[in-house]
Amino acid sequence: MRFITVSLLTLSSSLVDACAKDYIHRKSLEPRELTLAKRAGEFPPVLTDHESVLLNSFDSNTISDWSYYYTHGLHVAGTNKTMAEWTAEKWTEFGVPATLASYHVYLNYPVSHSLSLTLPDGTVWNAELEEDVLPEDDTSSYPNRVPIFHGYSASGEATAEYVYVGRGQQVDFDRLVELGVELDGKIALAKYGGPFRGLKVKNAQDHGMVACVIFTDPGDDGNITEANGHAAYPHGPARHPSSVQRGSVQFLSTYPGDPTTPGYPSKEGSPRADKSPVTPKIPSIPISWPNADKILSTLDGHGSSGEQVNRTGWVGALNVSYSTGPAPGAEIAMSNVMEDVYRPIYDPIGIINGTKGDEVIVIGNHWDAWLIGGAGDPNSGSAVMVELAKAFGKLQETGWKPKRTIVMASWDGEEYGLLGSTEWVEEYVNWLKESTVAYLNIDVAVSGPRPDISATPSLHQIATETMKKVIFPYKGSNNMTLYDWWYAQSEGEVYVLGSGSDYTPFVHNGIASLDMGSSGGPNDPIYHYHSNYDSFHWMETYGDPGFGMHKAMGQYLALLAYHLATDDVIPFDVTNYGKQMAKYLEELKETIATSKVTVDLSRLEAAIGVFNKASAAAAELKAQAEKQGDMNLVNLVNAKFRDFERGFVSQGGLPDREYFKHLIFAPGLDTGYAPTTFPGITEAVEAGNHTLATEFVERTSNAIYVAAGILTP
Ligand SMILES: *[C@@H]1O[C@H](CO)[C@@H](O)[C@H](O)[C@H]1NC(C)=O
Ligand SMILES: *[C@@H]1O[C@H](CO)[C@@H](O)[C@H](O)[C@H]1NC(C)=O
Ligand SMILES: *[C@@H]1O[C@H](CO)[C@@H](O)[C@H](O)[C@H]1NC(C)=O
Ligand SMILES: *[C@@H]1O[C@H](CO)[C@@H](O)[C@H](O)[C@H]1NC(C)=O
Ligand SMILES: *[C@@H]1O[C@H](CO)[C@@H](O)[C@H](O)[C@H]1NC(C)=O
Ligand SMILES: *[C@@H]1O[C@H](CO)[C@@H](O)[C@H](O)[C@H]1NC(C)=O
Ligand SMILES: *[C@@H]1O[C@H](CO)[C@@H](O)[C@H](O)[C@H]1NC(C)=O
Ligand SMILES: [Zn+2]
Repeated sequence: MRFITVSLLTLSSSLVDACAKDYIHRKSLEPRELTLAKRAGEFPPVLTDHESVLLNSFDSNTISDWSYYYTHGLHVAGTNKTMAEWTAEKWTEFGVPATLASYHVYLNYPVSHSLSLTLPDGTVWNAELEEDVLPEDDTSSYPNRVPIFHGYSASGEATAEYVYVGRGQQVDFDRLVELGVELDGKIALAKYGGPFRGLKVKNAQDHGMVACVIFTDPGDDGNITEANGHAAYPHGPARHPSSVQRGSVQFLSTYPGDPTTPGYPSKEGSPRADKSPVTPKIPSIPISWPNADKILSTLDGHGSSGEQVNRTGWVGALNVSYSTGPAPGAEIAMSNVMEDVYRPIYDPIGIINGTKGDEVIVIGNHWDAWLIGGAGDPNSGSAVMVELAKAFGKLQETGWKPKRTIVMASWDGEEYGLLGSTEWVEEYVNWLKESTVAYLNIDVAVSGPRPDISATPSLHQIATETMKKVIFPYKGSNNMTLYDWWYAQSEGEVYVLGSGSDYTPFVHNGIASLDMGSSGGPNDPIYHYHSNYDSFHWMETYGDPGFGMHKAMGQYLALLAYHLATDDVIPFDVTNYGKQMAKYLEELKETIATSKVTVDLSRLEAAIGVFNKASAAAAELKAQAEKQGDMNLVNLVNAKFRDFERGFVSQGGLPDREYFKHLIFAPGLDTGYAPTTFPGITEAVEAGNHTLATEFVERTSNAIYVAAGILTP
């Protein structure tokens, strides 16, 4: 999975009209859009010998081969040890010796399900709970293809009237309560998008609802819809109507990882905790939009119409009034049968020893997918990682050794809830906190042509500068670097990390982290997220024909990892942390201004001031170390840069969610994916809890003082 609000953000920043026909080879990158990108720096980029060896090692043909391998076998968590072994063998063969780390985790698999609608006149209609087999797309017909289901969903049956609950966020439910819509005992029909899907189910459960059905709405597909004249996949770039989004319904913002082992690694004999704080008690299933259309249309004229509800994102593109219901006598009957299992999962872990044992860089991607395919999520990243091992192998042949140890990790079980990464971090947390300089995450490396980055502030500068060394692969691109193209898309914004991928356990142990990927904008081919059509065929036809974007993302990751592991002085811009915190402070002030509470922020402002002095002094020390090359000074600066981020994490974590310890950013309690900054304070203000907000001003300020103290020369 991956936090995908980023692509929703780009919805508003793209300036090109879609071309209705002839959609081959990313037709949407029009010359007008490409000329928007101003060139920064020299072209072609000037590279060192090592950089050239790395970049030249990337080959889109071999990347396509690795992608083909990963996308032609079942690899839901716990089902394919062979694939993990293959990864470890490939990395080892290329020069990154790898072995498997293994955890014994709770999972559940789909057994059977059904959904029918009974109309007030007694007519019964059965929903089609399968995605179509497409002759053009080989893996769509595999006999062991994965049914549509929700990971960690509850087994159960429900027969009841139903209510449309919009995106299913807390505010949507508040509005329904305000409108007097009866929720207790009803089934929730929620729309995908916005909060993490598990939180939709949680909110429904918390309101006494008995089951939850979640659908994909074509209104979230930007311009590339059949209604706008685009053919549907496989004949065109629009969504195939039968596509369904699978995914986990764990309560991700409470804690990720194996639900039965919070805070400690899952081993075969590990004690098992109650999983109900993070897994639903009510059953849920995902459905396609044609099914939702039928079910929603039955609510027309009942309850409040979408217009009366008057909430952002409530109304989508279906030809219905998005009324709340319930419609008296219209009932959904559904059943969801799951099988609980405890199974081993496998993380291939490859290591290149550095010359300095106490500094480490970790690079990770998950390999498990909800599908036979998974060409975008996550195996675009997995294919890039194999090519990265090859590039590191080539560089080692020249005699290069990294200063810092490089750990390459291929996480299993990410889709259920960041299992492989969380359990591994829990097992090695002491060593990681002593030694890790940075974690680099690549999940969906490519689901479209537009790169995006999220990172902790000290990494912003190296992350953006490194993009200037990679060539954007699109043919008509007028000699653009990845930076030029990214800048035109993002206006230079590096996003804040929330959750939804494997950087989460690293961030919340105070390790500088970065997440990279590229996705489609509103005029690019529709990415069938967590659907059978996230396949190799889709990728080679629409997502990344020629695999050039895969190559560019791999080159970018390689250079970033190389500099973080090899530069004498760790290339962090620590002064940016204060600049970013100043922005978060402004946002917090706005939140407070529109809330019912007043909170004194003077201590927080003072702490940021102290941090700014410390980071400016540390930056000066860095410049000195770079100039003089004095090893004692270099080591001192590096230790400070490696460690200061740990200061931002607090024992005890956020209220009722101890896993989330970083006090500067965390996934929102009711968003799951999207970040909240100064989360302890912001969420207490939103809850109107003055005491708690004040307590978290204190704790957050203290954390900033600790970080500043570590940086102070
Ligand atoms: C969709 O296309 C229309 C015209 O074809 C354009 O005006 C609009 O900006 C596009 N929407 C987005 C989000 O790009
Ligand atoms: C595991 O994945 C590989 C590669 O895609 C595939 O060939 C193999 O059939 C899969 N194994 C199982 C048990 O599905
Ligand atoms: C919808 O809500 C907005 C503000 O949230 C308000 O300005 C507007 O009047 C409302 N519209 C209706 C029809 O109630
Ligand atoms: C929308 O539905 C109404 C009836 O519910 C129908 O009259 C109208 O033709 C439909 N519009 C479209 C674009 O399908
Ligand atoms: C890397 O270092 C570890 C610990 O010092 C050692 O056990 C291992 O054999 C080394 N690996 C290689 C490939 O040199
Ligand atoms: C693109 O770069 C090449 C050198 O790599 C150069 O020969 C060519 O003139 C450049 N084209 C443009 C349009 O700048
Ligand atoms: C505010 O938060 C504190 C600490 O979590 C809690 O004990 C208290 O009940 C909360 N107050 C209100 C009014 O919710
Ligand atoms: Zn993923």
